Amino acid sequence: MQFFLDTADIKLINHFKSLKLISGVTTNPAIMAKETGSLKKRVIEICNIVNGPVSVEVIATDANGMFEQALKLGALHENIVVKLPANRAGFETLGRLEGHNVPVNMTVVYTSMQALLCAKLGALYVSPFVGRLDVNSTDGVGLLSEIRRIFDNYNFNTKILAASMRNAIYVKSAALAGADVATIPPDILSQLMDSELGDVSLIGFLNEWSNITRRIDLFED
Ligand code: E4P
Repeated sequence: MQFFLDTADIKLINHFKSLKLISGVTTNPAIMAKETGSLKKRVIEICNIVNGPVSVEVIATDANGMFEQALKLGALHENIVVKLPANRAGFETLGRLEGHNVPVNMTVVYTSMQALLCAKLGALYVSPFVGRLDVNSTDGVGLLSEIRRIFDNYNFNTKILAASMRNAIYVKSAALAGADVATIPPDILSQLMDSELGDVSLIGFLNEWSNITRRIDLFED
């Protein structure tokens, strides 16, 4: 499973890129709204750092506006993946983009039937929002499994991009459900490295090492 970073923060993107943990970046209007300066420049900067897909969402709400914005965003950089919402205007736009060489990530996907439509219309990614479904007492991880099964039944190439990964357990569940990618907020990605038991174990080992009375050297012949 690939990891994308769910942020537009350059410092954090550079940090996780240097750790070699991320293959791409996702943004949305709320994420972009936290940034200052030229957003166009920011998007291009992110694309130049990340050697992989960078999702940027349209702001328009009607199909004509989405189509126009999708073409403009797609022309900004070869790494751009245009995010369209899984609603009637978004599906219409996805269909119209056929043959325009604009890769699309269909976002805010909440049902497996929406995901099936995305795949039939040739989306590159489909983004089920796992955390937001759970907040509404619906089984977000179950949705991932349903989509995986449907895509496998018909050999669709559309990739499942598990989104709204609000804790480490969602990431684990996405991996178990066979998601192709999880897009993860920076703090949650850091948490994946941690284990309190691991810390306690290490303290124990190093205490025993430092309590020893004879002289020891790990690197001596
Ligand atoms: C994905 O592309 C979205 O930007 C993101 O995962 C949304 O997460 P949230 O539901 O925690 O806002």
